[in-house]
Amino acid sequence: MSEYLALTARAFFTLTVVVALCLADIQHVSASWDFVGAGEPAPVPEAWLREATQSARRQLRSVGTEGNSRRLAIVYLVTDLQRVDRDRPALLRASITLNKENLFPTTPCSVYIFTWKQQMSLLLGGLGDVGRMSNVAVLPLANESWVAPAMAGTAELWHEHHTADYRQMGDWRLGFMPEFVRRMGHRYLLQFDDDSFILKPVGLNLVQLFDSKGYRLGAKKIRPDPLIVTWGLPELVRYYLTAHKVVPKQLFEFCEPNNIHGLYSALDAESLGTIPAADLAALQELGLKELGGWNRTILHGNCIMYSLDWWFSPKVHRFVQLCRATGGSFTYRWNEQGVIAMLWQIFLKPEQFHAFEFDYKHRLVKAQDAYDMAAAPSVAEGN
Ligand SMILES: *[C@@H]1O[C@H](CO)[C@@H](O)[C@H](O)[C@H]1NC(C)=O
Ligand SMILES: *[C@@H]1O[C@H](CO)[C@@H](O)[C@H](O)[C@H]1NC(C)=O
Repeated sequence: MSEYLALTARAFFTLTVVVALCLADIQHVSASWDFVGAGEPAPVPEAWLREATQSARRQLRSVGTEGNSRRLAIVYLVTDLQRVDRDRPALLRASITLNKENLFPTTPCSVYIFTWKQQMSLLLGGLGDVGRMSNVAVLPLANESWVAPAMAGTAELWHEHHTADYRQMGDWRLGFMPEFVRRMGHRYLLQFDDDSFILKPVGLNLVQLFDSKGYRLGAKKIRPDPLIVTWGLPELVRYYLTAHKVVPKQLFEFCEPNNIHGLYSALDAESLGTIPAADLAALQELGLKELGGWNRTILHGNCIMYSLDWWFSPKVHRFVQLCRATGGSFTYRWNEQGVIAMLWQIFLKPEQFHAFEFDYKHRLVKAQDAYDMAAAPSVAEGN
């Protein structure tokens, strides 16, 4: 009898262990999958969020964070500081200095700069007094916030030459950045590069402008993206519209034909870059159309502003999570700019989008060029 009991106990124990392991595994998979149903916010590591917001609040104490709903959050992400071809701290310093001259006088802003802990002192040294401004916080980028989506797989699945950090930036901007900014109490976010420069006074309060006109999204540059970096995105959108029964506001105008049958990536072999011959052969065998499809109009990620209430509205947020979950935003470098372009074309009426009119320049190699252009009497259209 006692032997029988011992056996039963052992069997029960084994069963419990197996169930526990399975549960642990499921938990592990869903955590790294980073996808939650019903349009709920993506799970962001709570410890990271707490640490970053506390640190930001400490640094911005003299500004006070209670009024953040009326302040614009500007977020910079600087990961590769030590580039031989340009002085990134100097560029960032120029970007913030020009914001101070041209944006802050009419739009109250809080600036959040994220960089690796090991690079903080280097960055602070390069920023000088700009790093100590009362509305500027320099924050450590936590490793937990820098994890590729599970479906991104390994490097042999990634297309084109972009670095892992560059792809990761896109996912970070889609996942962690808006969570952080919302937690800080802001309603609007301006996503900026360290080499984005506002050259002349903006002359109005962007938060008030967006509130009064009902703008949800604004951008400076609208361009077509190369075929290879948007590959598969329109096909995913077709799935999304079908599965979620969504009629897009403007998207079909960007498609040929102008309806759901125009939501595809045209197989233009010339524009696909260096893909393995076997992959190209497979695509050709699939009989994909060579002309038409989505025309790949995107908003450049170096100057984009959006409403966080809109971003976290269920259908919008769900689309973002779907893009991240497929790994496509990483493997093909849709990055945040391809995904945000689709948000714009699916969810917004033309009058809810604002094309910024201020003088602006992106991607200068020398900080001095930015100061010179800002000081010059008139400015050519920059990119
Ligand atoms: C975080 O990542 C950096 C860069 O990849 C690495 O050098 C560092 O050791 C990591 N820190 C921890 C605590 O894992
Ligand atoms: C794509 O479609 C939009 C909307 O019709 C149009 O404004 C834009 O010029 C088109 N772009 C290209 C590259 O065809």
